[in-house]
Amino acid sequence: MVQKKSEVLMDLALRRSIFFPSAEIYGESFSGFWDYGFYGTAVKNRIIDSWRKDLVEKEGFIEIDGAQVLPEKVFVASGHLENFNDPLVQCSKCHGLHRADSLLGAEFELTEGTPTDRFDELIEKHKIQCPKCKGKLGKTKKFNLMMGLDIGATGKLKGYLRPETCQNIFLNFSRIQKTMRKNLPFGIAQTGKCFRNEIAPRNSILRIREISQMEIEVFFNPDKINEIPNFKEVENFKVRVRLNTKKKEEEISAKDLVSKKLVSGKLVAYYLARLQQFYQGLGIPTEKLRFREVSEEERPFYAKEGWDFEVETSLGWIELVANNYRTDYDLSGHAKTSSTNLKVKEDEKEFIPHVFEISAGVDRTLYVLLELALKEGTKKGEKRLFLSLTPKTAPFIAGVFPLVNKDGLDKKAKEIYENLLEHKLSVFFDAKGSIGKRYARVDEIGVAFSLTADFDTLKDKAVTIRERDSTEQKRVLIKSLPELLWKLSTEQTTFTQIK
Ligand code: GLY
Repeated sequence: MVQKKSEVLMDLALRRSIFFPSAEIYGESFSGFWDYGFYGTAVKNRIIDSWRKDLVEKEGFIEIDGAQVLPEKVFVASGHLENFNDPLVQCSKCHGLHRADSLLGAEFELTEGTPTDRFDELIEKHKIQCPKCKGKLGKTKKFNLMMGLDIGATGKLKGYLRPETCQNIFLNFSRIQKTMRKNLPFGIAQTGKCFRNEIAPRNSILRIREISQMEIEVFFNPDKINEIPNFKEVENFKVRVRLNTKKKEEEISAKDLVSKKLVSGKLVAYYLARLQQFYQGLGIPTEKLRFREVSEEERPFYAKEGWDFEVETSLGWIELVANNYRTDYDLSGHAKTSSTNLKVKEDEKEFIPHVFEISAGVDRTLYVLLELALKEGTKKGEKRLFLSLTPKTAPFIAGVFPLVNKDGLDKKAKEIYENLLEHKLSVFFDAKGSIGKRYARVDEIGVAFSLTADFDTLKDKAVTIRERDSTEQKRVLIKSLPELLWKLSTEQTTFTQIK
């Protein structure tokens, strides 16, 4: 591709309404908010479905759906009111606002914990000016990233849009643990929106103000961090890590991560392995992924240990999942501020459980899957663009088409489509334009297979099935389609295996 992949993807996303700026008819100033169209929503739902099946249900975790607005006290207890800040500088000439760390650039290794006077020192030393008008920059201030709300008619009840979905999980921990009769370790999961008042939203859906998350908080007894019954299943699995002390990625088995004391215990290694397996299952090649060990200075204020799961794209390494050992930081904070007992009793001992967090960004996962899947090929000498998404992440497993939109083929194709819908398969019908144009359209949005009813269909009760990436075609009986598509979408069979 001559153009950068991120640009080709942006062009495709707008052309096919996969994702696009929110409220775009009112101009560009409302940045950091994005909408998903039909295909984007379908892929997003596939990602969430896979997360729910592979990381929530398989692990026996509980999923909840909490409120997006929470009272101020929650964020006093969580530390977000005090600590959830970015460094902000203002130009004294044009009054433009900028993130101090972005102006200085990556080479300074600035972190969440860098004090504001260090930014001022560096800005002065390196003569950094306003990027818009070259004016002098003022002193760095802490800018809190939460979005506040005045609730109710009096407006006196202060609330905030949650900056991370996990706070509901901590607030509900005790109720869920008791009512669901769960023993430690166990996880509570939640998918939904959170909100961050980013100073400089950028890179389309990568740095945004309204974020979709898939979060899991695993609660455990810190004395039993090495008592993980299923550890054997992953002990020899190679986790691809980038250690702080090393300059490159290496593959270390889950067992060795524990024995070499690179992680706090088996529980951490177990979930790093499971998460890598999950993303590999979504189609991310091993050589493009890594867990980057997060240094103490860079870690969020609540974390004792951190592993950022990152994927390499045309825009560099992108963090998709923050994996943090949050200790008892959150439950202790909420117990104290709300005067509630959040302890559990185990082996005659009372304690506040510790938490390991797996906090994944849905928007970023979607972006990365689309960018990695974007391919260019040629068909009959003509260039074609296609999204090589796996059957698990494709917006639809198959498109159903009549070869021509007449002579009874349209009716037959519609009948096949409706029957597949009855079988709860994710299929898509299109009869507009020529068959070649329809193939090109579904290839671009990543539909895995195309089913075409042609003139023979009326006689042999079969259709052609076409694979998106190879464009190869085979003939299959209509009556075999529900089972075949189910097996293809759950990766129990492949196109090559079709006889
Ligand atoms: N819960 C961690 C995060 O949202 O980054």
